[in-house]
Amino acid sequence: KEIFLKDYEKPDYYFETVHLNFALGEEHTIVHSNISVVSHPEGGANAPLKLDGVDVKLRSLKVNGEDVKDGGYSLSAKQLILHRPPSTPFKLEITTEIEPQNNTTLEGLYKSTGNFCTQCEAEGFRRITFYQDRPDVMAKFTTRIEADKSLYPVLLSNGNLIEQGDLSEGRHYALWEDPFKKPCYLFALVAGQLASRDDEFTTCSGRKVSLRIWTPAQDIPKTVHAMYSLKAAMKWDEEVFGREYDLDLFNIVAVPDFNMGAMENKSLNIFNSRLVLASPETASDADYAAILGVIGHEYFHNWTGNRVTCRDWFQLSLKEGLTVFRDQEFSSDMGSRAVKRIADVVRLRISQFPQDAGPMSHPVRPHSYIKMDNFYTVTVYEKGAEVVRMYQTLLSKKGFRKGMDLYFERHDSQAVTCDDFYAAMRDANTANLANFGLWYSQSGTPILTIYTSYDASAHTFQLKCRQEIPPTAGQPTKEPMLIPLAIGLLGSKGQDLPLTSVYDGASLKSLKDDCGNGVTTVVLRVEKAEQEFIFTDILERPVPSLLRGFSAPVRLVSDVADEDLLFLLAHDSDEFNRWEAGQTIGRKLILSLVSALQQGKELFINKDFVNGLRSTLCNSSLDKEFIAKAITLPAESELMDLMEVADPDAVHTARRFVVKQIASSLRQEFLDAVNTNRSNEVYEFNHESMARRALKNVSLGYLASLNEPETIQLALNEYNTATNMTEQIAALAAIAQNPGELRTEVLSKFYEQWQKDSLVTNKWLALQALSDIPGNVKNVEALLDHPAFDMKNPNKVYSLVGGFCGSAVNFHAKDGLGYRFLGDMVLKLDKINPQVASRMVSAFSKWKKFDLHRQELAKWIHMGR
Ligand code: ARG
Ligand code: ZN
Repeated sequence: KEIFLKDYEKPDYYFETVHLNFALGEEHTIVHSNISVVSHPEGGANAPLKLDGVDVKLRSLKVNGEDVKDGGYSLSAKQLILHRPPSTPFKLEITTEIEPQNNTTLEGLYKSTGNFCTQCEAEGFRRITFYQDRPDVMAKFTTRIEADKSLYPVLLSNGNLIEQGDLSEGRHYALWEDPFKKPCYLFALVAGQLASRDDEFTTCSGRKVSLRIWTPAQDIPKTVHAMYSLKAAMKWDEEVFGREYDLDLFNIVAVPDFNMGAMENKSLNIFNSRLVLASPETASDADYAAILGVIGHEYFHNWTGNRVTCRDWFQLSLKEGLTVFRDQEFSSDMGSRAVKRIADVVRLRISQFPQDAGPMSHPVRPHSYIKMDNFYTVTVYEKGAEVVRMYQTLLSKKGFRKGMDLYFERHDSQAVTCDDFYAAMRDANTANLANFGLWYSQSGTPILTIYTSYDASAHTFQLKCRQEIPPTAGQPTKEPMLIPLAIGLLGSKGQDLPLTSVYDGASLKSLKDDCGNGVTTVVLRVEKAEQEFIFTDILERPVPSLLRGFSAPVRLVSDVADEDLLFLLAHDSDEFNRWEAGQTIGRKLILSLVSALQQGKELFINKDFVNGLRSTLCNSSLDKEFIAKAITLPAESELMDLMEVADPDAVHTARRFVVKQIASSLRQEFLDAVNTNRSNEVYEFNHESMARRALKNVSLGYLASLNEPETIQLALNEYNTATNMTEQIAALAAIAQNPGELRTEVLSKFYEQWQKDSLVTNKWLALQALSDIPGNVKNVEALLDHPAFDMKNPNKVYSLVGGFCGSAVNFHAKDGLGYRFLGDMVLKLDKINPQVASRMVSAFSKWKKFDLHRQELAKWIHMGR
């Protein structure tokens, strides 16, 4: 059934307190809930009370201590309706029976490697007991857990532990009380054999908070980085947003079977193990960075999500967009800001832009949904974070902080909407946000076209801007919206020219600071479909640096010439745009080679581009991690997204051609980079060592693409001498580019070494699944039967099946075998875990981008069977 935002109504009843009792068992688990019900002030008295419930067996139902008679309620597969509740307040008591041990959906209460755990967001609580499962029902919870003491020595829930003790027959119990009212999607329970790493954090007001990270005992040594990340996040939120933690205990539990990354349950975060466990030998720099970011993300939810929550699920981006923005800022402050920004924009372009241009396109705040689980998307999360970032770009960091303070002041302990957030930002700054709100309701990526011209006699520089939002699924026409356009102008020596005043179509605005100096970057407000800006007192023809820092999630089209882009690549003070200039040339180059291929012409490489890359690679004043990003070409999926009709084979061939040309032209430079960035020091997660490894690994990848004895030998040496996973897996990937005996040999050596470590074998599965080797679907099908694979574990499925869909040449192969493989997998997965199945099926959602032959194949597989 489709649910619409416009149909939102307040619940007729609120819940004040909820006492839960869990009797955990092997055959079944009994859940008793005791709720104090009140009606909301304007609520319809004696209206029926509708409770959600899925796969739960009702054992008893009492109102004010009396059994409800047969005619007093009705029960369907999804709902329990109490027809004539008494006058409020009243007590509602429900006993249900569930079977967590048979729950393969990994929603509600389930078992993962013998331990009980929960996942309730978005609508998992209804799989535990009958409840008004909606985020605007906020109650104070106490949770009593009862279980066998030897099997489940550790019993955890939200809030503070207030009592525990032994019971008869080898059982014991624990009683938890959460003093903060919360929606049921933040409820959590964990029971099992777990050990903890314990630490402590003293908050800014001097309160001591116990920190515990729970895993199976043998994994405790791998939680050092997670604990470091947690403490860093707690400190950062105090310093940057003035947000202090509000309880005396904070628990994190790592479980191997988890649909998503992690969950921000109040004071009991539950994580996918891959986002907690790390050691230098088993986790790569990318894993370490992801752990830092996600531990931060879930911790930050305590304020943006838990203390202030969502009124309904259409508002998901209120907490997710904002919290992603906060975790991005946290990671930027902990490492390199430019590199983090580049990585986030790449992610947006690879995943969100295609989503917003295809049949799954939806606004940051969707207007309707059928299954909420399918709306945990890159649009709600990543584009949502860009929308939050634009407030900061428009209002400045200081203004943004004022807006955040007002948001918390107004809405602490409430369930609110994106409009409330918008209003807080606007009111705190008495800002004119014009048509900015449309970013929440209009889907599609705006195309921002900019033509520039310089008037040498008038000393003016003009920008003509046009914005256009293409039609998207369900939204044929769009209105223009406020786009913050950050820009700078470079002089002939590469320096930033002072910007002293700008005419914005209505008036001339001075840009001078208090001392009368011009600024180097200005944020223009593009509000109309067409708008002109004129900078005055520009004494020489400048090279414009447009959309600095990627100040808005748009597709920029401009008349900046290739030679000016090369100039920006060499000089722009905005590091993001420096990288972007190289990418723009790279995109143009590869796409022109794609057309050449399609027309049967010979391929040539642009020498200036290669020379630009050489200067970047050899520029010792640049950050090495930045260099690694700057010499990496746009991904195939980003390139296909730019084509009218995507041609995966031509894109792959053209991109590989450029990779090899660059590798052979810069062979010596790459060899030097590998040799000078090798190190025998112990692994450290700090910017300098990560940057060194990143540059070394990218260089090694280029060299191995040449498939020459010497470069392959080098990669093999790197593989054999690697002392950390970052370098080991990079060397393996370098070697695995080239089919042959060596590839097979090293892959099996790697498996032998790591077969006991499930997280590492996931990397091994993914590396093979992602391979572009022709006909790789056969290998992937064979891996389904490998002991390293397990259909019930989401991480395994994402590595093998998801990995395979990441290889465009193989997934979109013309023989249709790739589509058939995914079609078969989705059918099987759907019976086990619908959430995982629907995440996998989304690979089909780009089908309209492809030629008719492929469209037919995809339709036949996707819909016909
Ligand atoms: N709120 C979690 C986060 O931190 C994600 C929960 C996802 N749940 C789901 N059913 N898709 O982002
Ligand atoms: Zn989140």
